Amino acid sequence: MKEKVKVLISEQGIAKRVDEIAEQVMNDYKGKNITMICVLKGGVVFMVDLARKIKQTVEMDFMDISSYGDSTVSSGIIKIDKDLENPITGKDVLLVEDIIDTGQTLTHLHRHLKAQNPASLRICTLLDKPARRISDQISPDYVGFVIPDEFVIGYGLDYAQRYRNLTYIGVLEFSEDD
Ligand code: IMP
Ligand code: MG
Repeated sequence: MKEKVKVLISEQGIAKRVDEIAEQVMNDYKGKNITMICVLKGGVVFMVDLARKIKQTVEMDFMDISSYGDSTVSSGIIKIDKDLENPITGKDVLLVEDIIDTGQTLTHLHRHLKAQNPASLRICTLLDKPARRISDQISPDYVGFVIPDEFVIGYGLDYAQRYRNLTYIGVLEFSEDD
């Protein structure tokens, strides 16, 4: 099988949206320290870009969660592979995700973080794929782009661990070898 990448959102398009979200976040968190939590590995590119546009105190922590194998279909099984390093009790937390697909990961994570009694908890996702939502208990506070039901890669998102370093977001297309 051959893999071909079709550009869905350009580097410039992403940069403009990151600026806009940073403005919104600064407006909502005036005078507060923001604890940004990134879900590894997909959210890392977005989180560091966003963090650098936020002109106030930001702390970062990272979690790793698995719900996907090396396939494009959710297993529905979610487990915490790496938990937070620092307690978030009393903190203003901004959870940064790469993409919300079925919503299972987010529902699980939200419950896990909420149980630690943060002062506030908001969700920021770069991409939202509402067509495949199973769990609609939780909705994101900040959304970069709403996208159609296609498998996307780049700017942190992978297919079998590859393509995370693309500067844009693309749709992965498969075709038979010639
Ligand atoms: P959910 O639990 O189905 O919402 O899964 C969300 C997670 O699945 C994301 O954090 C991604 O790691 C992965 N995922 C879902 N859709 C895509 C995609 O189109 N490209 C790459 N990863 C995806
Ligand atoms: Mg993810």
